[in-house]
Amino acid sequence: MQKVKIGIVGLGRLGRKHAENIAFRTPKAELTAICSILKEEVDEVKKNWGIPHGYTSYEEMLKNKELDAIFIASPSGEHCHQIAEALEAGYHVFSEKPLGVSLSECKSAETAVEKHQDKVFMLGFMRRYDPSYAYAKRKIEEGAIGKPILFRGYSIDPESAIEGAIKFAPHSGGQFLDMAIHDIDLARWFLNSEAKSVYAIGGCYAHHEFGLYQDGDNVSALMQFENGTMAFFLAGRTAPHGYHIETEIIGTKGTLRIGSIPQKNMVEILDQYGVRKECSQNFLERFEQAYVDELQEFVECILNNRKPEVTVYDGTKSTIIAYAATESFKENRLVLL
Ligand code: NAI
Repeated sequence: MQKVKIGIVGLGRLGRKHAENIAFRTPKAELTAICSILKEEVDEVKKNWGIPHGYTSYEEMLKNKELDAIFIASPSGEHCHQIAEALEAGYHVFSEKPLGVSLSECKSAETAVEKHQDKVFMLGFMRRYDPSYAYAKRKIEEGAIGKPILFRGYSIDPESAIEGAIKFAPHSGGQFLDMAIHDIDLARWFLNSEAKSVYAIGGCYAHHEFGLYQDGDNVSALMQFENGTMAFFLAGRTAPHGYHIETEIIGTKGTLRIGSIPQKNMVEILDQYGVRKECSQNFLERFEQAYVDELQEFVECILNNRKPEVTVYDGTKSTIIAYAATESFKENRLVLL
């Protein structure tokens, strides 16, 4: 069987999971090279998983002509230049979200993708590949809820991960770009339209540190789309019970809810605390299958010479909306797009 040989850059919280999925959970892919600026990460993965090539320099990895594709899971500020360099070097490219941390960066990534039309480029909006979100999209297309009129999305990280979130805050681009971007992409996808205005509010209710970066620990936004539909988002860092991802799409003839109780599994526990369901604790647990499915789609697109649904333009458009929400939050005013 023909295999796509992949080199991954970034072996951190998410990169390591992607590396594992490439190496062990995608039969048509092979993890041929790994790269991180941290030598100990490279040495450990290379030795324990038997990966042929390890690099601490991205530029060096791009010289490895055995590779077919580059998988980017480095920090957000590295994405756009790494995308352009990999395409220029002749590889197919998958990049984690967000596409970039500035609009000019996103535009340069668009230019690079347009210049290399023969290559597959895919962006990691993995929620579109989550079985429940994909099912909801099909139901909407079948007319199950009539015409969608409102999208509501809550994305709240667990309080238990607050230390990492505070450490990540200076480089995250802010809550709207880092966290709400998934809901922004989903709203565009489910409502089938582009945002035309946004008003955002929020604050530092439990952790003043986010204020140092003009960010909040919980922020929200209300948006109107060009086709008249509405969206409401809440992005936060303080869920006491776990990783809270909840979505609702209200239509003229019905409503779809995804994860309104963000439960870990089907188990109900009856004990001294009452009757309860446990919650997923992090993105790796909640979106385990979505990360595998988006990778498989990337590989299938390369092998079958077709393009994925999530494009570089989805990255730019979501970034524009995230920036408008950030501007609205900082300046306390309605922003027109
Ligand atoms: P992390 O900080 O845990 O890991 C970053 C990795 O990149 C480390 O291995 C680090 O050594 C490496 N690195 C940093 N600069 C580098 C460079 N110039 N060249 C080579 N390697 C370099 O970050 P995390 O949390 O894994 O996030 C990575 C990306 O994934 C971010 O853009 C983030 O927004 C995105 N992400 C996406 C999620 C999703 O659900 N789709 C969830 C979490 C993160």
